[in-house]
Amino acid sequence: MKKIFNIEVNNFLDKEVELFGFVSSIRDHGKLFFFDLKDRSGIVQCVISNDNKFFYLSKDLKPYYVLRVKGKVNLRPAHLENKNLETGKVEVAVEELEILSQAKTLPFEVETDGYEIDEALRMKYRYLDLRRKRLQDNLRKRHEFLLFIRNFLDAHGFIEVETPILTKSTPEGARDYLVPSRIYPGSFYALPQSPQQYKQLLMVTGLERYFQVARCFRDEDPRGDRQPEFTQIDIEMSYIEREDILNLIEKMFVEVVESLYPEKKISYKPFPRISYDEAINLYGSDKPDLRKDPNNPDELAFLFVIDFPMFEVKDNKLETMHHPFTQPKLPDGKKDKESLIEALSFSPEILLSEQYDLVLNGYEIGGGSLRTTDPDVLIKVFNVLGYKSNEIENKFSHLLEAFSYGVPPHGGIAPGVDRILMILENEPNIREVIAFPKTGEGRDYMMNSPSEVLKEQLDELKIEIKKNKKGHI
Ligand code: AMO
Repeated sequence: MKKIFNIEVNNFLDKEVELFGFVSSIRDHGKLFFFDLKDRSGIVQCVISNDNKFFYLSKDLKPYYVLRVKGKVNLRPAHLENKNLETGKVEVAVEELEILSQAKTLPFEVETDGYEIDEALRMKYRYLDLRRKRLQDNLRKRHEFLLFIRNFLDAHGFIEVETPILTKSTPEGARDYLVPSRIYPGSFYALPQSPQQYKQLLMVTGLERYFQVARCFRDEDPRGDRQPEFTQIDIEMSYIEREDILNLIEKMFVEVVESLYPEKKISYKPFPRISYDEAINLYGSDKPDLRKDPNNPDELAFLFVIDFPMFEVKDNKLETMHHPFTQPKLPDGKKDKESLIEALSFSPEILLSEQYDLVLNGYEIGGGSLRTTDPDVLIKVFNVLGYKSNEIENKFSHLLEAFSYGVPPHGGIAPGVDRILMILENEPNIREVIAFPKTGEGRDYMMNSPSEVLKEQLDELKIEIKKNKKGHI
């Protein structure tokens, strides 16, 4: 017999069904024993009478036992219908009952939205926390969102390519997570802060349109909208102007919102393009919240911030506002290489860049740029950042060499999936839209990570943990 989800149970009137699910509640009426069975689609009432040979099992049932039930779908008497249940007109008269798994009492309520429960406890038992409907809905919406985006990008000629997780440091502005190499003791891989260099190298291959639902890793302190690992819709395109990318991203977000969140209203179409200077001068922020009514949960105010400065001063030295691969541009609009090289040599702080950010309701939900493909300009940018020739050689020679074999002009963007879903789902932080996030302190209380490793593992890697005289780390 086919397993059915209980939504369809109504269509199975007077028919035999086989159901699997959790016990969600029990009511003992003596000769009749009622229990609600819950699967991922909803709930159906089951009833077993004392003349059934499995009746004795019903006395053992507790919430969250896992069952197999075979029985007949009957119409309930009119006065016993439950209007709150989609299946409230029917019940399953149990013929066979099998307990597939017993369940201890859960450490917290999972029928509520869960915000009231201590988060550390929720995270320790995340597999139970995820039983709650709100989080099941978030997981499903995330799946539908990514499926939509994949189909959208596929329909626009993009090819999804997986790039390595064990890679080399690439400058995105955060600290790297390092992975020691056993085969080359003393050497380390870095986890990618983003697939930035790989996607540019894919443009050198002639792929023209790349995307990836890419996991990124940045060793920074977690916040409500920041996790040490997170997901980007990473995109790169060849032979395009800035507007080609912005229009594509705008179309993608309008379509995904209209299709998956029809109740939401996009405040401005087309999305406004505001320069960095304008944003700072008018709104005091490079990610302004342009909602007409910030109390309205269904308003989405997208905008693009453009024309960022190329460099900013941090700790008394110049750093890129985005990353070094972003094309610098002269504020007076001149495009010749000589003028650009001159500005990079003598007045880098005046330069703007081809960076653009996508902002939604006051959050930066995506960042990207047109890239520098001229090795001379790229080397100059590295010089401004203080890289010595040997460092440039060591860190970026592969990219510079790749560009010497013919490089299509290209640019890209990377919207952050977690932040976008947090906003679309009206959640207070990104942990609510990630299946197994780290806590605010960067811990995984369920797996208990990070954790110490065996001495033998460290020995194999030729790594010693430094301890002070008191034996502390
Ligand atoms: P950028 O560093 O701006 O660009 O990141 C792009 C988007 O990724 C999201 N994001 C994060 N989300 C959650 N937790 C984090 N720690 C975190 N860090 C970033 C944000 C952000 O807008 N390689 C470039 C893109 C490009 O140039 O194409 C990049 O990673 O939503």
